[in-house]
Amino acid sequence: MSLRQVLCLLFFGLVSAQNLSDSQTANVTANLALGATHPWELGTRAQVLLEHDVPLFSVFSLTLPPSSIPSNTTAAISPVLSIAKSVVQNRTASNGNITGPQPLVADDSAGDPASIGPAVLLANWTNLGDGVDYAGAALDQLNFLYEKVPKTSDGAISHRTAEVQLWSDFVYMAPPFLAYYGLLTNNQTLLMDAYTQIKLYRNYLRDTAAGNLWAHIVLGNNSNGVPNDPGHWSTGNGWAAAGMLRVLASIQTSTFSSSMKSEQSDLQDWVSEIHAAIYPHLDPTSNLFFNYADEMNTFLDAASTALIASTVYRLSLLRGVHTHLPDAEKSRQALFNTTSSSSSSSSSNFTGFTHFSSDGWLTPVVNPDDFGNNGSDSPESEAFVLDLQATWTEWVNGGSQGANGAEKLGLGTNSGVMIFFMTAFSMSWILL
Ligand SMILES: *[C@@H]1O[C@H](CO)[C@@H](O)[C@H](O)[C@H]1NC(C)=O
Ligand SMILES: *[C@@H]1O[C@H](CO)[C@@H](O)[C@H](O)[C@H]1NC(C)=O
Ligand SMILES: *[C@@H]1O[C@H](CO)[C@@H](O)[C@H](O)[C@H]1NC(C)=O
Ligand SMILES: *[C@@H]1O[C@H](CO)[C@@H](O)[C@H](O)[C@H]1NC(C)=O
Ligand SMILES: *[C@@H]1O[C@H](CO)[C@@H](O)[C@H](O)[C@H]1NC(C)=O
Ligand SMILES: *[C@@H]1O[C@H](CO)[C@@H](O)[C@H](O)[C@H]1NC(C)=O
Ligand SMILES: *[C@@H]1O[C@H](CO)[C@@H](O)[C@H](O)[C@H]1NC(C)=O
Ligand SMILES: *[C@@H]1O[C@H](CO)[C@@H](O)[C@H](O)[C@H]1NC(C)=O
Ligand SMILES: *[C@@H]1O[C@H](CO)[C@@H](O)[C@H](O)[C@H]1NC(C)=O
Ligand SMILES: *[C@@H]1O[C@H](CO)[C@@H](O)[C@H](O)[C@H]1NC(C)=O
Ligand SMILES: *[C@@H]1O[C@H](CO)[C@@H](O)[C@H](O)[C@H]1NC(C)=O
Repeated sequence: MSLRQVLCLLFFGLVSAQNLSDSQTANVTANLALGATHPWELGTRAQVLLEHDVPLFSVFSLTLPPSSIPSNTTAAISPVLSIAKSVVQNRTASNGNITGPQPLVADDSAGDPASIGPAVLLANWTNLGDGVDYAGAALDQLNFLYEKVPKTSDGAISHRTAEVQLWSDFVYMAPPFLAYYGLLTNNQTLLMDAYTQIKLYRNYLRDTAAGNLWAHIVLGNNSNGVPNDPGHWSTGNGWAAAGMLRVLASIQTSTFSSSMKSEQSDLQDWVSEIHAAIYPHLDPTSNLFFNYADEMNTFLDAASTALIASTVYRLSLLRGVHTHLPDAEKSRQALFNTTSSSSSSSSSNFTGFTHFSSDGWLTPVVNPDDFGNNGSDSPESEAFVLDLQATWTEWVNGGSQGANGAEKLGLGTNSGVMIFFMTAFSMSWILL
């Protein structure tokens, strides 16, 4: 461990005691398991369980997953594979016995069922030998997106089945599936398509008049029952950034990494663009985002705050971009804060937490079934908590690189300056 890392740990050790204990995390995990029922919730749950509990099988491990499951990860990965199994076993019933291109689950959303795709691909990859045709189900889901879902004239796949309508949510639901399919089958076309879908969605949803915040829902004429939502929904900006990072990781892991450098650098820039657009709107009192980032008359939303903070740690880990770490740290400390002065490390309940209910649900949160209104007991918010806990812990274990927010600190001349400032910081902490 370098002197700089020691100093970073010292500095952050003093200012960031906020953490969830294992039993508190287990409670959040249990809430998520009970609450997640919609297709996007199942897909999101599968993804965060991998990141939090089985990182070796997460796309962020930057290695192909093992083709058999090590015995010491069987228990941790089993809920992920159970999601894949129950969904694939039920898809024929769900889709009314059709064969050929079909979603993993019948749904008005075209994008959401695809979010379960990576778990299904992983079930195929690990050769469960349970007689379930995971590869066939994944292929049908892939072909459904390509052949059955309406598209814009320039090729953006709709987030809805009934008409062309683009939602920021899509970026987390479908492109990561295309990219993971491309990674596991060594297919550059699919990796490129994942990138291209994001590029197209950015063209439609990025609002340059709002400093590059993304709109939530554009196109369509309400024939599918959902009107447009041009507002800058904070969770949608988070879905977009988090989806881009998953695609970026798939490309980076693939054999095409060196021939797809510009795509990786675009994705990195587009995640940074969302961070730069949204963090100026962070409410300075609560360190939370409003439900619509630039509409201060909307309610404060801990769910998007957690998701977006997690993407800041992830971008730092993946690409060495540390610009918004101090912002993410402020949000994380606020979300995990307790009113009690004692450490929460041994607690098994949420007594004293500002942003968790006594039964472990993040609060206040947007209602995930009614995105303009506040709600409670949001399954996706619990997923975002696990994501935040996982990425933050990984970042701390990696030496809290760039804790002061400076860009790409190497071991060159910058680190001397860094040590000077960290030492000054530490000294002032000790003296104060
Ligand atoms: C499982 O075992 C391997 C080596 O045997 C070890 O590297 C890894 O950290 C273990 N994983 C867990 C989740 O304990
Ligand atoms: C299976 O699909 C049917 C028909 O759509 C649905 O009613 C049922 O809830 C599904 N079961 C599971 C376990 O998903
Ligand atoms: C699908 O097949 C099952 C079993 O054959 C049958 O019970 C069910 O009614 C069929 N559903 C439709 C929508 O045809
Ligand atoms: C399924 O797994 C097999 C190897 O076990 C692999 O050859 C195939 O490409 C996989 N299919 C998909 C769609 O990932
Ligand atoms: C809405 O769009 C759909 C196709 O996207 C079209 O069939 C329908 O006529 C449109 N309705 C109106 C009222 O414009
Ligand atoms: C790659 O995926 C595309 C899109 O599904 C498919 O058309 C093509 O045949 C695949 N290429 C290979 C080499 O499998
Ligand atoms: C944590 O809560 C305490 C007590 O309510 C408050 O004084 C402190 O400012 C909060 N810290 C953060 C980082 O929100
Ligand atoms: C919560 O946990 C703390 C510390 O473990 C304990 O002192 C307290 O009594 C618990 N509160 C409830 C309501 O169970
Ligand atoms: C989470 O913890 C609370 C209180 O400690 C408990 O009432 C609740 O049942 C737990 N939730 C789950 C899903 O286990
Ligand atoms: C929504 O916010 C209002 C106003 O703060 C509050 O009274 C209400 O309880 C909240 N609803 C939920 C479901 O949290
Ligand atoms: C937070 O607490 C958990 C459970 O004790 C621990 O595994 C994790 O390393 C902690 N994270 C940090 C950054 O200290």
